[in-house]
Parts: sequence; structure tokens; C-alpha cells
Amino acid sequence: MSIRTICCIGAGYVGGPTMAVIADRCPGIQVTVVDLNQARIDAWNDPDLSKLPVYEPGLDAVVGRCRGRNLHFSTAVEPAIAAADMVFLSVNTPTKTKGVGAGQASDLRWIEASARQVAACAQGHTIVVEKSTLPVRTAETVQAILSAAQGDGASGSSPKTFAVLSNPEFLAEGTAIPDLEQPDRVLIGGDDPAAIEALAGVYGQWVPSDRILRTNLWSSELSKLTANAFLAQRISSINSIAALCEATGADVQEVAHAIGADSRIGGKFLKAGPGFGGSCFQKDILNLVYLCGHYGLHEVAAYWQSVVDLNGWQQHRIARLVVQRLFGTVTGKRIAVLGFAFKADTNDTREAPAIRICQDLLEEGAQLAIHDPKVSEAQIAADLGENLGDGWQRVATPVQAAEGADALLILTEWHDYVELDWRALAAVMRKPSWLFDARNIANAAQARAAGLQVWSVGCG
Ligand code: UDX
Ligand code: UDX
Repeated sequence: MSIRTICCIGAGYVGGPTMAVIADRCPGIQVTVVDLNQARIDAWNDPDLSKLPVYEPGLDAVVGRCRGRNLHFSTAVEPAIAAADMVFLSVNTPTKTKGVGAGQASDLRWIEASARQVAACAQGHTIVVEKSTLPVRTAETVQAILSAAQGDGASGSSPKTFAVLSNPEFLAEGTAIPDLEQPDRVLIGGDDPAAIEALAGVYGQWVPSDRILRTNLWSSELSKLTANAFLAQRISSINSIAALCEATGADVQEVAHAIGADSRIGGKFLKAGPGFGGSCFQKDILNLVYLCGHYGLHEVAAYWQSVVDLNGWQQHRIARLVVQRLFGTVTGKRIAVLGFAFKADTNDTREAPAIRICQDLLEEGAQLAIHDPKVSEAQIAADLGENLGDGWQRVATPVQAAEGADALLILTEWHDYVELDWRALAAVMRKPSWLFDARNIANAAQARAAGLQVWSVGCG
């Protein structure tokens, strides 16, 4: 079966960029991205491409090429499902906050709602593709909902039939467009060969065939959780060694370089920092922990839980260390926080290390001047929460942040912070002044030459 129309439910960080690249690379396919959120859809349709709701380098150009041609954004969910040969589910699946599995299991209410909507509105044969990261065996739920509707059909039309596939997303925010255009691999899980080949045929329009992997449904779902767990584990591992480097006088960048040169280890994902953030790592590991607990594998659950625990520890450690160096108190002191996004080149702040670190400092009574090139004041306010009050403000430039500050704390590796003018910053800070570089990106020698005392993560 060759696919001519695609509908994607969920116009978020995953659905939006993924569908934009499919539309760009498959001019013969009409792609409609639908979302319940009218404001989000309006932003995707904004004539000013700098106003897209997701900031990703290169995304504006792709959307500019395809929008209105074979890429459409709409809140009209039902007709888009009815017209589709293939429906991607790309809705959010946050960690449950209450009920069974609270704090670990994913909340599947939106997946279920979307599956029910597909069951109700689809016509003829429809391939349903799980794009959201999901607990293993979720496809079963989706399948059960769709099976109940199978065979129905308006009089005169062909009966409804469905196939369910798992096609996890491996894009990283900030590099979503190159990750989608040249993926290391595309993973398709399922047990219906015709459906698998139909989806492989879509990706095959730009991805070399040896990079399209086919597995059973559960292997595909579990591979996504495992990939993220392994990546996050490398970060917790290097952050644990960073603390030891600081205690012993070693340099974590030298250690990372030395171990990464071993081709069995490899050099990527060995940057020490303020801990991992983002919508996926913590959620996926907690999911894995829940799954292991469910199957009675308590040692396995504890092993992966420790990766999350170390990440939280690293964040609190950095906040504590700032307080200690500033003579044990930050009450009433101004601290310039540079970077709020969970990584550079995105406006996303989900699980950003900056949230926990800023909250700790605010609880200690600090006055924070927060700068981020892409994160809005409203987003920072939502993340820090109301009960921490007015201890912080968002400022427009790093120099404004530094004015009167005792310390400058770099939390996101934005390129702007690599090239800071340390003389200009030192001139407006209160002395003695500190640089705390949790990303190892500032020019520490220049900062020292300008009179600052410097702490860099993992440098003893
Ligand atoms: C989400 C999940 O967090 C991730 O695990 C998964 O891999 C992909 O989907 P993301 O795209 O980053 O990632 O989420 P988000 O930006 O929150 O977008 C989800 C969108 O779905 C939102 O715009 C929301 O309005 C929409 N949605 C949600 C619907 O349109 N219908 C629903 O029923 C629920
Ligand atoms: C991740 C996975 O990389 C991606 O494959 C999956 O589809 C979704 O989850 P993402 O969270 O967007 O992507 O970004 P990623 O680049 O993986 O960074 C995650 C966090 O780890 C960030 O906070 C980043 O700053 C941190 N990180 C990454 C480090 O601290 N050190 C590193 O060496 C690499």
C-alpha cells in the first residue's frame, strides 16, 4: 500500500518537526498535523516563521517550503483522520501525578483518547503509528480500542480495518532537523508486514534502506526506553566522576576525552554538566523502573532508579556549592543565571536543571537575574512556581544580569555564553565576584584574568 495522506495527532516538539520533514521529503504525500490547542495551531500557521511554537534551527525553512503545499496545521481533527491512510499518535504522555504508578508510570489518557478518536473517525484501512514514547505493550491498548471499532463502516463505504505500528522518535531537540533528515536509524515495530512496508516506504524516500530496522512491537517500544536510559546513564556516570575530579584535582574534560578515545566507549554524551533535562530521559527511565517493578525485577528497577537519583543529586550539589562559595549565604545576594532551557538551541524547559537549581537558590533567599535567549518570562514563571514569589526577574542581556551580581552561573550551553566579554561583565559585578560554569563552556582563563574566581564543573 502506498501512502498518500498522513494525519498526525499532536503538534508538539515531536509531531511538528517530524511531519514537516516527512512533507518536505515526500512531496507526493499530503500531511496534516492536528492539535486540540488552537493557539498552538495558530502559531504553526503564523505567516511570520519566527513565531512557530517550537524553536528548532532549520525548522522555519522546512515549514516555509511545505506549508500550504503538502503540509497543513489544523484543529479539525476528525476530517483529517477520516482522510488519512496513516495516523501518527504524537500526543504527550507525562508521568502520572496520582493514582496507581504515580511518579513513575506514564499517563496514557491522551493516547487512549486519540485512539478512540481514530476508531470513531477512520475510514477504510488505516495504519496507526505510535510516535509518542510509550510504556512497553501500549500498542496492545491501542490495538484493543481499534479492534472494537473494526468492521464498522458507514453504509456504502468499505469497512474499517486497522494495523498498529510502533515507530519511536530518536530526534534530539536543538538538532531535530538534521536528526530527522539523516537519522542513525529508523525503527519500525509491528506484526503486519504490509503496514511495516508502507511506513518503510515513506522513510525510504530519503533514508537509506539499511538504516530502516524492523522489529516486533514490544522490542521497538522497549528499544526507545532503553536508548534513552543508556544515554542518560552516561550523563549520570560522567557527572559522578566530575564530582570525584573536583575532589581529587583531576579534570573531567581530560578524563572524558581519554575514555572516549576507546572506541568501545566512544566520545559522545560524556559532557559533565548540571544534569540531564528534557521531556524524555527522566520520564522514560521512570517508566522502565515501573515496568521492572511490575515484573518483580526489583534489582533492575533499583539500578535504573539510581541514574535518576544521581541526576537530582548533581542539581542540588551545584546549588549547594554556589551557596558555600558565597560565604555560606546568598540571602539578598544577586546571582546572574545564564541559560534556562534544558539544553542549547531550544526554547524547551521541561525538566530543565535550571528549574531545580534556581528553586534551591530562591529558597536560600537569593535574588536571581535570569537570562535566556529563547525562553520567555511567562515560561520561567510557570516553571519556578508561584510560591517562590518575586525573587527573580528575567533580563535581556548577560551584562544586565551581571549588574551588581556576586556570581554568574552558566546553566545552558548557549553559544552566546562561549564568547562573553569578561572585562565588561567583571566591571559591573560586585566584588569578590564568582563564575560558576556548570557547562564548562566559558573562557575560564579570560574570566580569571578579569578578576573573577572560577568554578567549572569537574575541574579540581
Ligand atoms: C510528546 C511526548 O512527550 C513524547 O514522549 C513523545 O515521544 C512525543 O510526544 P512532544 O511533542 O515534545 O512529545 O510533546 P508536546 O510538545 O507536549 O506536544 C503534544 C501535543 O499534543 C500538544 O500540542 C497537545 O496539545 C497535543 N494533544 C494532546 C492533542 O492534540 N490531543 C490530545 O488529546 C492530547
Ligand atoms: C533525547 C534523546 O537524545 C533523543 O534520542 C530522544 O528522542 C529524546 O530524548 P533530548 O532530550 O531532546 O533528546 O536532548 P539530548 O541532546 O539527548 O539532551 C538531554 C539532556 O542531557 C540535556 O539536558 C543535555 O544538556 C544533557 N546532556 C547531554 C549532558 O548533560 N551531557 C551530554 O554529554 C549530553
